[in-house]
Amino acid sequence: MHRPNYPSGKDLLSADAVSRHDLEDVFARADRFWAEENAEDADAAPLIRRRPKVVANYFEQRSTRTRLGFQSAAVRLGHQAIDAHDTDRSRMGTTTGESLEDHIRTIEAYSDLIVVRTHVEELPYRISRLSYLPIINAGNGADEHPTQAFVDIYAIRVLRGPVSGLSIALSCDTRARFALSFVKLLRLTPPKRFTLCCLPNVSINPPMREAMQRLATLGTQISIVHDVRQTLDHDVLSIQMQDMSRFAHASLGSEAVDKERETEPFTITAQKVLDAKSDILILNPLPRFTELDVSCDTLPNAGYFQQVKLSTPIRMAILDRMLSGVPWTGQIETLPGL
Ligand code: CP
Repeated sequence: MHRPNYPSGKDLLSADAVSRHDLEDVFARADRFWAEENAEDADAAPLIRRRPKVVANYFEQRSTRTRLGFQSAAVRLGHQAIDAHDTDRSRMGTTTGESLEDHIRTIEAYSDLIVVRTHVEELPYRISRLSYLPIINAGNGADEHPTQAFVDIYAIRVLRGPVSGLSIALSCDTRARFALSFVKLLRLTPPKRFTLCCLPNVSINPPMREAMQRLATLGTQISIVHDVRQTLDHDVLSIQMQDMSRFAHASLGSEAVDKERETEPFTITAQKVLDAKSDILILNPLPRFTELDVSCDTLPNAGYFQQVKLSTPIRMAILDRMLSGVPWTGQIETLPGL
């Protein structure tokens, strides 16, 4: 996809926008927020006192975690979140209604940052060009989901330790947006070993292949397997279903598709984990379908609901940075002449 917003650093549209320094800064802020949230004496935690800011959630595609996560993070920072995409009640998108341009100019008048979730890959980039406000891509079609990648790597760091010493497996459709952002962000903290578990005879999505090649050049040992059992000697398994087209149908509410099952080699069950005597940390960006059997929920390996909890300090950290005007420096670092 063409990315015409040559970087100003104001937006988080892709994991490419993030530098090693930015990653460490987000994790340091998240550690602080996480410690404050978990302080024994909650009243002793420092209150954030500043003029409240307004986060506009422009979600035209379904979301539970990302939508509530940004709302909750804004509130915990002492800010507010508003719904900037209510097609039943706003004038945008109706036959007699406003253009996207006018809608974004209006949102600008009421808010300080826009979070965009959409099925249209180009949309966050278009809004980024239309608006002077910082824009967060909260998932755009089959492109990227950079804040989920921050959550996933932070969860690994908190639950298993520094990523550089770990073996990490990823079982999913190679077109999955969370997966592409995850592998792109891993370049900033390359693991010892990275294994992709994917369908045989399906070509790997080119941007994913490129991100894996980048990891290889950074010294990560790369493998590709076609059965989740072959990942159980790793430290971490991040799993989601293999066929994203089924996911897309299910998210539209097609019951027949909802009942489809992931094929056996790509389904993780408690029995498989116990048979392998594996202490692998299991993550899943959620929602899960049948790739992650509920029998795993009582295993000590299950990290996915803790992963949801850790998304709050991460989203607080990202909002805190961006609402303070701190730029992302990942792409700026690669500008010619710098
Ligand atoms: N992981 C994730 O993006 O979940 P939602 O679609 O519920 O936001």
